[in-house]
Amino acid sequence: MAPTMLELDRLEKRFGNSVAMADVSFSINKGEFIAVMGPSGCGKTTTLRMIAGLDKPTAGEIRLWGRRLNEDEPWERAAPLVWQNYALFPFLSVRKNVEFGLKQRGVPTASRKAKADEWLERLGITELADRAVDQLSGGQRQRVALARALVIEPEMLLLDEPLSAPCRRNSCVCIANSKSPSSTSPTINRKPLRWLIES
Ligand SMILES: Nc1ncnc2c1ncn2[C@@H]1O[C@H](COP(=O)(O)OP(=O)(O)O)[C@@H](O)[C@H]1O
Ligand SMILES: [Mg+2]
Repeated sequence: MAPTMLELDRLEKRFGNSVAMADVSFSINKGEFIAVMGPSGCGKTTTLRMIAGLDKPTAGEIRLWGRRLNEDEPWERAAPLVWQNYALFPFLSVRKNVEFGLKQRGVPTASRKAKADEWLERLGITELADRAVDQLSGGQRQRVALARALVIEPEMLLLDEPLSAPCRRNSCVCIANSKSPSSTSPTINRKPLRWLIES
């Protein structure tokens, strides 16, 4: 059996007295793709933010390969989050947006540029490298956001409602946004990563 990669163990997040999500437990094996489903406000984004390290859990534990992650800073985890609205830096060019995570990790200029170019090419946006991101279409912005996340070669990739997918490969992630169960906490739909790529 594949080793468990990421585990959420009775995770809970409160903002003051209000409970954003509670008692969420699931585990993901290497190579798996899962969709977190549920109605608006049930805690999907909060769950992803905690995995990415942008929010700290109030209770419970997040473990990566068995090691507690709760206190690690976002840049210490290879878990970038691609936002629904892409959250690109509007004052930076496409290439600078893609290079950002590498710069934060202290990668030298030349290899930063080479890696960014590689991912721009893989996502078919090489010709946009020097454009300002506010001159791009929605689909092009989403590719930049994906390149920015993938360039650090993350162990996992978190996508928050990738609804306006620019290509068929991403569209199957939309099950996260389709008719969701009427549960008040996030529920999980599990598929192997191969299913995501081949759909
Ligand atoms: N920073 C915050 N402060 C207070 N409440 C928040 C904050 N972020 C989210 N919440 C609340 O937590 C709940 C879950 O929100 P969220 O995770 O964004 O839901 P979803 O992504 O499933 O729509 C909602 O009730 C929301 O209002
Ligand atoms: Mg959300």
